[in-house]
Amino acid sequence: MAKITASVYTSHVPAIGAAIDLGKTTEPYWQPLFKGYDFSKQWFKDNKPDVIFLVYNDHATAFSLEMIPTFAIGTAAEYQPADEGWGHRPVPTVKGHPELAAHIAQSVIQQDFDLTIVNKMDVDHGLTVPLSLVCGTPDKAHFEWPCPVIPFAVNVVQYPVPSGRRCLELGKAIRRAIESFDKPLNVQIWGTGGMSHQLQGPRAGLINKEWDNAFLDEMIADPEHLANKPHIEYVREAGSEGIELVMWLIARGAMADTAGGPAPKVAHRFYHVPASNTAVGHLILENQ
Ligand code: DHB
Ligand code: FE
Repeated sequence: MAKITASVYTSHVPAIGAAIDLGKTTEPYWQPLFKGYDFSKQWFKDNKPDVIFLVYNDHATAFSLEMIPTFAIGTAAEYQPADEGWGHRPVPTVKGHPELAAHIAQSVIQQDFDLTIVNKMDVDHGLTVPLSLVCGTPDKAHFEWPCPVIPFAVNVVQYPVPSGRRCLELGKAIRRAIESFDKPLNVQIWGTGGMSHQLQGPRAGLINKEWDNAFLDEMIADPEHLANKPHIEYVREAGSEGIELVMWLIARGAMADTAGGPAPKVAHRFYHVPASNTAVGHLILENQ
């Protein structure tokens, strides 16, 4: 049977992708941020999964106000990195895992979560920047990501957005789905976006270190309590784009302890301000 071995949580931020692509990672502004991911790159090499189930949000790239799925699962064989206005990032095509993705769609929809099935979609910085941060930059001779990725897009852009509670429960359903897949795959689940940031209006530039760190504490120790946080608190305390953090609860809900298993081991925790307009948070939790 397939097994979820670990969950990874990280902010995205388009400027991080640009810093990597333009060779700026050792500049004084960026160096402390990338240093926080040195551990993660080595950890990923040592713990390479067969598949990554990657929860992220599309930023009006593949979807627009014309069509707004709350939860969308990618069942395609591949996804192109999107052109977000300054050309495609020079990163590999993302290969999917249609067989596992179709199984998850079947199982999760039968567990009463309504997923939108997506067979063609470009993926934006919400998905490619976390891959770059944790997997590193694929070398030219071997220009591919280390493993297939199942993209799972969540609407956190246009209200109404899903609650933390629904995200945690969805994560539990995803775990049941993955662990009922009849092949011995090592699967990681990633939750991305956040931490505190607001990109527009009078509060643009808002960062809330105290709230962010309390969020990281609860992500580790008490996701059931964290799931009760209303979305208005995310917006008030972490800014209008801080709501991206509800997506972390999907990955957290897929860990063994939410179904009575042992608490996860914290392999890595990192927090840094600033990266562009954002506070960056990062966790790696391993199932024991
Ligand atoms: C920024 C952060 C984001 O999460 C995003 O999607 C776009 C921009 C920023 O900090 O600039
Ligand atoms: Fe974002």
